[in-house]
Amino acid sequence: MYIKNLLQFIDQSVTLSGWAANKRESKGLVFLVMRDGTGICQCVVDESKVSPEIFAAASKLTLESSFTLTGNVIKDERQTGGVEVQVTDLKVFQYAMDYPIAKKEHGIEFLMDNRHLWLRSQRQWAIMKIRNTIIFAIHRFFQQEGFVEMDAPIFTGNACEGTSNLFETDYYGDPAYLSQSGQLYGEAMAMAMGKIYTFGPTFRAEKSKTRRHLSEFWMIEPEMAFYDIFQNMDLIEKFLQFVIGEVLKANQPELTIIERDTAVLQTSLDTFPRLTYDEAVAIIKGEKDVNGKNSIKTLEEDLKVIESSILSTQAEITERETKIAQPGIKKGEINFNQNKIAQLKSSLKDLEEQQRNIPQWLESARTFKYGNDLGGSDETVITRLFDKPIMVYDWPHEVKAFYLKRNPEDPRFARGVDVLAPEGYGEIVGGGERETDEKLLIDKINEHELPMEAFEWYLDLRRYGSVPHAGFGLGLERIVTWICGLKHVRESIPFPRSYGRLLP
Ligand code: 4AD
Ligand code: MG
Repeated sequence: MYIKNLLQFIDQSVTLSGWAANKRESKGLVFLVMRDGTGICQCVVDESKVSPEIFAAASKLTLESSFTLTGNVIKDERQTGGVEVQVTDLKVFQYAMDYPIAKKEHGIEFLMDNRHLWLRSQRQWAIMKIRNTIIFAIHRFFQQEGFVEMDAPIFTGNACEGTSNLFETDYYGDPAYLSQSGQLYGEAMAMAMGKIYTFGPTFRAEKSKTRRHLSEFWMIEPEMAFYDIFQNMDLIEKFLQFVIGEVLKANQPELTIIERDTAVLQTSLDTFPRLTYDEAVAIIKGEKDVNGKNSIKTLEEDLKVIESSILSTQAEITERETKIAQPGIKKGEINFNQNKIAQLKSSLKDLEEQQRNIPQWLESARTFKYGNDLGGSDETVITRLFDKPIMVYDWPHEVKAFYLKRNPEDPRFARGVDVLAPEGYGEIVGGGERETDEKLLIDKINEHELPMEAFEWYLDLRRYGSVPHAGFGLGLERIVTWICGLKHVRESIPFPRSYGRLLP
């Protein structure tokens, strides 16, 4: 019996097992908010309806204590889940010690150190439910489309995405690297199976703390024989829209808990704009408008709005602080105002962060040098102008991976495609059409100073029945972060691994 099914058991007796998420007492009554992993519900222990032992046990319950209870399910529209359980029996597994995570605002480092417990809170629970929907939808999509799932090795002898962020390990006395991408193996498998996808852990030794980078993340990498870059983009769009659609169908309650404005998810079900690198650069630099919006002007206006919000927020904080400092003010009013002040201070922090960021974004947009890769700031600048993901393709070949095909009509460009999520989120997918010309590939491997021996097997794919093919990689945590509207990628995975963090 689980909380999520209680509506089917109105006026019946049920037995539930779970934890105390909250407790409140008023004369002769204990109100327990119980959670069991499937949902939360209010359970009431009434002194006049249970034995003194049971009532005493309920009164003693601390936050996160674990128990089993039996009770009658009563319909109650006002409660979360639409029901209340009137308790008739209670058995406690364990009275929890003083629980470190309280209702008050905790700092992020504290929460990350307590990630093993923080996962129980409602917001984190909702994010993990959405992550689960996304994972399941990804498998369903590719299975429905006739793809074969393949597991690529994690110990590898070659660098797929450049040598700068490899994790080296000792492999029986020889160096081996933790996989940065399963793509090269995916290409081999596509020549055997036609269409494949990988879904596995990937590792990047990113020595920087950003809100987008993890050292360990999960990547989904489809690879399709006989696809060109345009068929690849069609597939990416259909795939992402399927995943977004599944979340919208399955996770309305969770999206509400995390206060995600779903308008942008809805608009993302429309066609994604496709821009060449050249068009994207013109937009970033403010030389070309989108939907009547200019990148530079929008940022300048946003900065003004933020500066005035900062002033009004500061004023409200001062006003409320003065109010509660007055003599004779009621305790309830103090609490109410203190809560408000905490909320205001937290939004002030966000505003101040934006106030620091926008000038940097402006600077990097103004000084962007044609021919460079897009940095995090550039992605933010362009995607703030859109209400759906955009696909940027045909990149200067020098800034992209060695395996990308040159555009036959204009060899300055490689047929790579990045999908950038709107609202400033930036890259969630990187992919493209693969080089099939053995000679060009050998030149690229040399240019990137990669060890040829490690790529001999990969070159074989161009020697034995080479065909046009394409694929892409979706970062699972990047899409969870965007769909959930999170500020930082660290909340999108149960136990994030990033520069400076290995515990818990
Ligand atoms: O753009 P990337 O490096 O592309 C590849 O690895 C290709 N081999 C994929 C392919 O064509 N099969 O990485 C792909 C995606 C990025 O778009 C991003 O979503 C995610 O992987 N990603 C990261 N996610 C979290 N933390 C990091 N450090 C990431 N690096 C890449
Ligand atoms: Mg990329």
